[in-house]
Amino acid sequence: MPAWTCRRYGAPDVLALEDVPVPAMRPGWVLVRVRATTVSSCDSRIRALRLPSGMGLLGRLALGWNGPRRPVLGAEAAGTVAAVGAGVTAWRVGDEVVAFPDMRMGAHAAFLAMPADGLLIPRPAGLSLGEAASLCFGGMTALDFLRRAALAPGERLLVIGACGTVGSALVQLGRHRGARVTAVASGEGVACAAALGAERVLDRHREDFRRLGERWDVIADTAGATGFRECLPLLGEGGRYLAIAGGLGDMLARNRGNRRSIAGPVRSRLADLQELGRLAEAGAFRPLVDGVHAFADMPAAHARTDGGRKRGSAVVILPAA
Ligand SMILES: NC(=O)c1ccc[n+]([C@@H]2O[C@H](COP(=O)([O-])OP(=O)(O)OC[C@H]3O[C@@H](n4cnc5c(N)ncnc54)[C@H](OP(=O)(O)O)[C@@H]3O)[C@@H](O)[C@H]2O)c1
Repeated sequence: MPAWTCRRYGAPDVLALEDVPVPAMRPGWVLVRVRATTVSSCDSRIRALRLPSGMGLLGRLALGWNGPRRPVLGAEAAGTVAAVGAGVTAWRVGDEVVAFPDMRMGAHAAFLAMPADGLLIPRPAGLSLGEAASLCFGGMTALDFLRRAALAPGERLLVIGACGTVGSALVQLGRHRGARVTAVASGEGVACAAALGAERVLDRHREDFRRLGERWDVIADTAGATGFRECLPLLGEGGRYLAIAGGLGDMLARNRGNRRSIAGPVRSRLADLQELGRLAEAGAFRPLVDGVHAFADMPAAHARTDGGRKRGSAVVILPAA
């Protein structure tokens, strides 16, 4: 099957389109024909080995020393069940699904193997193929961090990087939970963040949220533009700082009084994916798509993601079977 591989770390030109074996079927697993996927910030970080500060050595040990041990990247997909393994009753050939292999990766290929009871849900009605492929990465991150922050209705939430994949999910899901969302964006992202449901949008090139003399209950930094200590004066009593793009230092940061710093990898749960599916069907969460790339143009989608300025997800559509 065709698959984009990354066999050594580097710029998008290290990627190669190869013919690799279709994943072997196992009892209890399903094979998904991938129709759309994304190039997430995680794909871009792994390909380039551009990891959050302090994570370089740990990253090489976990991912592979000179190149990724799992050379086919791609953390999320929308597609069709092409085969089911022995003992699988929940899925049938032809079912349309959204799959989140997450750090197991493998979605930048024509076929993806998934445990039948893994992070797999029916494709939500009303989403385009590209939106369905973009459901997981931002949505799962946002749900996990909002749960860890215990965001409550009426609380003030500041989202930095509000139009990125994670930020656009935080704005929508924060608002859905009844929070009063202030978004930090720039340029055309200002209108975009307002359309996502932010009560107020700051253009970061014109207004500095640090200088407004205001406080928030939760500050979510998806851009690594701030730090916990810097944000302490901006957090109200019991405030939480979400270091979503944070490194080792953020994971080790100590709480200050009743103000907390929350960092570290997302814990992905099937219940969250199912909730995202329900919210998408109800119109409460619509994944934002930055642009759509052909499978043959995978390196261009990586280059777009590398820039760190996209609005929503860089979608890649595979050729029809
Ligand atoms: N902890 C975890 O497990 C976890 C999970 C998922 C993602 N992440 C991390 O979260 C981060 C965001 O991911 P993403 O996929 O949402 O990225 P993305 O789609 O590339 O979005 C990043 C956004 O940040 C904004 N931005 C860039 N520089 C900025 C600055 N200096 N100040 C304020 N905003 C700035 C950009 O908008 P403008 O420049 O147009 O304003 C852009 O929309 C990545 O570092 C990723 O690795 C962590």
